[in-house]
Amino acid sequence: MIKAVEWTGEHLRAIDQRKLPGELVWLDIYNVIELREAIVTLAVRGAPLLGIVAGYGMYLGIRHYDTGTFEDFYSRFTTVADFLRSSRPTAVNLFHTIDRMENLIKSNSSLPPREIKRLVLDEAIKIHREDEAICEAIGEAGEVLIKDGFRILTHCNAGALATGGMGTALAVIYKAWEKGKRISVYADETRPLLQGARLTAFELVSEGIPTTVITDSTAGTLMARKGVDMVIVGADRIAANGDVANKIGTYSLAVLSKAHNVMFYVAAPSTTFDLTLSTGRQIPIEKRSQDEVKRFCGTLIAPKEADALTYAFDITPANLITGIITEKGIIDNPLKKNIPKVIG
Ligand code: MRU
Repeated sequence: MIKAVEWTGEHLRAIDQRKLPGELVWLDIYNVIELREAIVTLAVRGAPLLGIVAGYGMYLGIRHYDTGTFEDFYSRFTTVADFLRSSRPTAVNLFHTIDRMENLIKSNSSLPPREIKRLVLDEAIKIHREDEAICEAIGEAGEVLIKDGFRILTHCNAGALATGGMGTALAVIYKAWEKGKRISVYADETRPLLQGARLTAFELVSEGIPTTVITDSTAGTLMARKGVDMVIVGADRIAANGDVANKIGTYSLAVLSKAHNVMFYVAAPSTTFDLTLSTGRQIPIEKRSQDEVKRFCGTLIAPKEADALTYAFDITPANLITGIITEKGIIDNPLKKNIPKVIG
């Protein structure tokens, strides 16, 4: 299965996801400035993958600062951490990784910076490997929900390109397929940046899974015609009450699913939970450049005088979600009560 990023031992290599599916181009990322640029422009994207590359980014940002006092080293660390934290606000995985690195550094303050630097790289590699295993476990936990013949609808890309392993929502689909279930998938194209059409469909057809790309607005008609058995999506941040932030359009899908009595599942690792937030209203929602909505492949498709509203994510309230599939098991509704039991 395709790997979105790899650590060469010297630098980070990442598939430039802006170029897919037309071209498979690898970016060579040698420093934290290049990494942040790749994150902001969505060359590298997807919540768990952002958590992974943030780990390597911390290392790239401090690797030439391995002499001097701990205070100097720590001051450089916080500059790099703030620089990465300011890249994209919604996916909490990035913030969890930086916090994890901060704890690591603080608890090793008696070591020389050269050694702490080595620990940071080891931790980045560990986070990467952990995510790979988590994806497998999410797939195994969720595939039991899928019956032979299911027609599954997904939104955006929550696959191998968004994680260190086989994905989250797509891991569930891959595992069901691996076990011989004859399933098919509808991939919402996912306006405006088309992660569904470009990335999800690319991944699924590469694995030989029957895939149909639909415009986002087709989902309702499809459900009304009894054409969808289940929806599975990923998540960028999940609040303590089970409200889920995910790609813009997810909320509409959840409302449609409720109206048509279709199961609506979210698949996400425990690193996507933010239990410091009591509800989804507290989740910061990224707004992106108006050009992403007003232009298509560079061509203006709306009057330049018109404004575009450019939320990149929305919040799906917990009551619309059938359950959340995690590496620790499936969390059923009521989510607020059950999240602590599964996630801790
Ligand atoms: O803007 P993106 O492409 O980073 O948005 C990604 C999503 O919304 C995914 O569904 C989410 O990060 C889960 S990825 C396993």
